[in-house]
Amino acid sequence: MKKLKLAIIGCGGMAQGGHAKSFSEVSDVIEVMACCDIEIEKAKAMAESMGVEHYAADYHDILEYCDAVMLVLPHHLHFPIGMECLKAGKHVLCEKPMCISEQECIEMTEFAEKQGLVLMVAYVCRYMPIYNYLKNSIDDKRYGDIFQLSIWTEQLTMTNEWSKNAATLGGGQLFSHGCHYIDLLLWFLGEPKCGTHVGTKKCTPWMDREGTSNVSIEFESGALGYHFGTWGAKGSHHRYCTQAHFEDCMLELNVSDGLIYEYRWNEEPKLVDQVKIGKNTYYELRYFAECVLMGKPVLTDGFDSLQGLRVIWELYEAEEKGIVADLRGLGIKHMEPFIKMEPAERRVAKAADGDGDIK
Ligand SMILES: NC(=O)c1ccc[n+]([C@@H]2O[C@H](COP(=O)([O-])OP(=O)(O)OC[C@H]3O[C@@H](n4cnc5c(N)ncnc54)[C@H](O)[C@@H]3O)[C@@H](O)[C@H]2O)c1
Repeated sequence: MKKLKLAIIGCGGMAQGGHAKSFSEVSDVIEVMACCDIEIEKAKAMAESMGVEHYAADYHDILEYCDAVMLVLPHHLHFPIGMECLKAGKHVLCEKPMCISEQECIEMTEFAEKQGLVLMVAYVCRYMPIYNYLKNSIDDKRYGDIFQLSIWTEQLTMTNEWSKNAATLGGGQLFSHGCHYIDLLLWFLGEPKCGTHVGTKKCTPWMDREGTSNVSIEFESGALGYHFGTWGAKGSHHRYCTQAHFEDCMLELNVSDGLIYEYRWNEEPKLVDQVKIGKNTYYELRYFAECVLMGKPVLTDGFDSLQGLRVIWELYEAEEKGIVADLRGLGIKHMEPFIKMEPAERRVAKAADGDGDIK
């Protein structure tokens, strides 16, 4: 089978620590042609460690070698560099969050669509078997209806200068890391109705905005979603953990150890599955290659991934005002008519949609 010729732009922490080791697992569908980093030593080191011939400090110099690029860059660069790559006719796999404003997300998505190019956001969790087990359990009602889904992510993160700065990060911990889990909550539970975010900088003084974040969302189905994320953990029991309460049992995804358990009163927890641990980015890399090479529909395309960012921006705005966020009309179901509207029109339409009786 033909292989996808890929260039990596940004050879920092995630590229080296997350993606680099995944390429050996997808060498049947992806050939890494070039590595680029504005700090040339990083590009050189990554190229050498992967046996890649070309490397450069300026991404314009590596575009000739590839059909697609993977952007592993500070968030404020996703849009300008992503657009340049699309204009050069390259398919784009963009690390999350796609861009730092709704306008940028829409412009990049629409441009890719017009050019017939694949634009996929690297929401790695959506491609991981452990979360797909939960998604299938919810969709086929294996354990009955779900009524509460809680996600914990507890980290100590203080490494990159750009990720301490709200302007280059695009927000705080919720926007940067929580976007994975807001995206998952929407994928699992559907259309959001209302919600709250409270964040704090306490004990993460290196952050411009929140380093610790708590989100509660009520969905149209009546189910509730919760996410607690921190970049200030000095220890953790949960680490990466998801608990889903269904009519029949509680399902726990111990993501850090790759274990899935069923819990029932007066019974020992039952281990139902054990999966590979780690960032597992080879699942998303293979999926991206199949989208380009075989025309597979993109699961986490621009609009699909935008819905989670819209929820986050609405939650931030409501937090500032000290109110509960009205999240109706932000889910994917409403995306097509909404993206054609100006933000002011969108607010009027949202107010008219439903009885306004949000608690
Ligand atoms: N999915 C995950 O689990 C996960 C985890 C961590 C980071 N990420 C994402 O990966 C992306 C990068 O994060 P990171 O932690 O690797 O950051 P990083 O700072 O470690 O790496 C970014 C790299 O981009 C380089 N760079 C900056 N400007 C450039 C330019 N103009 N041209 C080429 N290279 C340039 C920097 O020199 C740096 O090496 C972000 O979108 C982040 O959210 C995802």
